[in-house]
Amino acid sequence: MGGKGLFDELHIGGLAARNRLVRAATYERASDAHGMVTPEIMRIYRELASGGVGTIISSFAYVREDEYRRDRMLGLDRDEVLPGYRELAEAVHATGTRFVAQIVHCGATAGKPPFTGPAWAPSDGVSPVDETRSVRAMTRADMDALAADFAAAARRAQQAGFDGVEVHAAHGYLLSQFLNPLWNHREDEYGGSIEGRMRFPVQVLRAVRDAVGPDFPILVKINSSDGVPGGMTEDESLVVSQAFAKVVDAIEVSGTTYGKVRIAGPDGQHCLYAPYAARLAELVDIPVILTGGNRLAPELQELLDTTGISGFGLARPLVCEPDLPARWQRDVAYVPRCVSCSRCFPEAGRNCVLHSAR
Ligand SMILES: Cc1cc2nc3c(=O)[nH]c(=O)nc-3n(C[C@H](O)[C@H](O)[C@H](O)COP(=O)(O)O)c2cc1C
Ligand code: SF4
Repeated sequence: MGGKGLFDELHIGGLAARNRLVRAATYERASDAHGMVTPEIMRIYRELASGGVGTIISSFAYVREDEYRRDRMLGLDRDEVLPGYRELAEAVHATGTRFVAQIVHCGATAGKPPFTGPAWAPSDGVSPVDETRSVRAMTRADMDALAADFAAAARRAQQAGFDGVEVHAAHGYLLSQFLNPLWNHREDEYGGSIEGRMRFPVQVLRAVRDAVGPDFPILVKINSSDGVPGGMTEDESLVVSQAFAKVVDAIEVSGTTYGKVRIAGPDGQHCLYAPYAARLAELVDIPVILTGGNRLAPELQELLDTTGISGFGLARPLVCEPDLPARWQRDVAYVPRCVSCSRCFPEAGRNCVLHSAR
């Protein structure tokens, strides 16, 4: 291998980004109460786009309003949101940055009041965010309806002018719950072996592909493993990623499951999931993007030189310094200011504690 530079173009299907750095989706808590783009969202994305990153993945957007979870979370659940996204996509594109919309269903963690649930999940159980609430196993009809909702949201992203869409199948949200045997106790063909557990996530990806056509880039974010005893293992995740690769144009590798956040601390390990991503890159012929603890440009260049990994997602370092890519382009040895304290997680990704309040 070798010969790839951090500031070379990254190609995902027909999308050509100016460099290999990707802003990983980061919930900003800055939409209005109905998931619409606000002036605050516009400001955050303009700042990110002028900071030199090649591609921005927008923060997770719900595909069904009745099941959304987070306060002031973006939505792509209905056509009324489109004008705001069109303006946002134009602003991002004006800087030469590519723009990908992330879509999600939060599954057992879904359902912010006044929604009273029970929220959808692979199997009956209790909400991990509110023990007083039960969650309900999805029926086949629910699954068909939700796959259609994902597809419609992806189509809206396309209509709004995004360059691609990313389906969130990581971090313990619904599609990740289907993959995780701790959550998925189904006895039908959507549970059991990893082939059964991945059946619904694959159905969703196929529905999205049918909705956006063969040429619109689709990414998927997956856990390299759930990182907890009894969860999806790395070997199982490799099986899933290879199945996903038949439908999508790139795979973003992450890790962690809801409530078990494993993200780099001040003394933390960097490039957390690099060994898995390197293995995966040998097995698929689409780009693999590594996210989680990417902190030093020379380390990323080393991975480009020695593995098949194609790109690198950055979340917290860009909360702290949206212009980090431009700084690295000027000085590859620049050490980012972010100390990985995670105090911007989970509720206020638009603010770094190192900044005065904006
Ligand atoms: C404040 C905050 C909000 C996040 N929101 C999302 C999100 O909307 N979707 C997602 O896939 N990951 C989300 N993440 C996870 C990041 O995309 C990324 O996977 C994780 O932070 C590790 O990368 P980092 O070390 O560069 O921060 C969020 C992380 C933070 C810190
Ligand atoms: S709050 Fe902490 S983790 Fe978040 S961007 Fe700032 S320094 Fe980084």
